[in-house]
Amino acid sequence: MRHGTVPVHRLAARQNGVVELVQITDCHLFKDDSGKLLGLQTVHSLNAVLDDVATLPPQDLLLATGDLSQDGTPESYRRLREGVNRFAMPAFWIPGNHDEPTLMATELTGGNWSAAKRILVGNWQIILLDSMVPRRVYGKLKDEQLALVEQSLQEFPQHHALVVLHHHPVPVDCFWLDTIGLNNPEPLLAMLRAHNAKSVVLWGHIHQAFDQEQDGIRLLATPSTCVQFKPHSEDFQADTESPGYRLLRLHDDGRIETSVRRIDHMEFTVDYTVKGY
Ligand SMILES: [Fe+2]
Repeated sequence: MRHGTVPVHRLAARQNGVVELVQITDCHLFKDDSGKLLGLQTVHSLNAVLDDVATLPPQDLLLATGDLSQDGTPESYRRLREGVNRFAMPAFWIPGNHDEPTLMATELTGGNWSAAKRILVGNWQIILLDSMVPRRVYGKLKDEQLALVEQSLQEFPQHHALVVLHHHPVPVDCFWLDTIGLNNPEPLLAMLRAHNAKSVVLWGHIHQAFDQEQDGIRLLATPSTCVQFKPHSEDFQADTESPGYRLLRLHDDGRIETSVRRIDHMEFTVDYTVKGY
């Protein structure tokens, strides 16, 4: 990838330099409202999440980090598009292993939606990566995606970096999930270790919360807006935790505050006897 081929999308920062953002992930929506994942009606839980976002003070932007559709239909993406378009904040997306990126590009557009993959806001740069491998569950960063990170960090060496992708770049202590993570994390992590400013990596895919720091890099994953996977499990296992999403506050000095919000007040029916997804 040649320098400058991915344009930078600039957003105005708040006066205090803080960037407040919402991450939703792994919505697994279907063509029809009745679509269920492991017995859970996924549009129902997404709507509960979006209703919860609506109770918050206005946020600056929303990141939708893949597996937004389960069946890769235009209708499923339209459902997400319309749900998010009720807010007054820009929204950005990346694909996950279940997604159809070509359809996402045509359907996740208009209103709040932008296909931008580099965002500059205050002292932060947000880099949205495509880790999808067609017809595979694991992820990989192609050379052009690694070049995008390299280019971004070179161009804005003093900006803190929030790198967003679908697949996990470190083991998460779930044997079955650790076989389907990002299969080439090292070049990305090496670039972030060498970055002069702070680095945060944020992902979805694992349907559970994760928050660690390694070599100065903050590593965050987020519950799905639908079914949860059980932490520390050898084999596939759904969890009894509620659907959720993540909030992040990025400070101009590189500090971050983050929290996971769960939709505890609703009754959900998950079929915990299912042994795969
Ligand atoms: Fe997922």
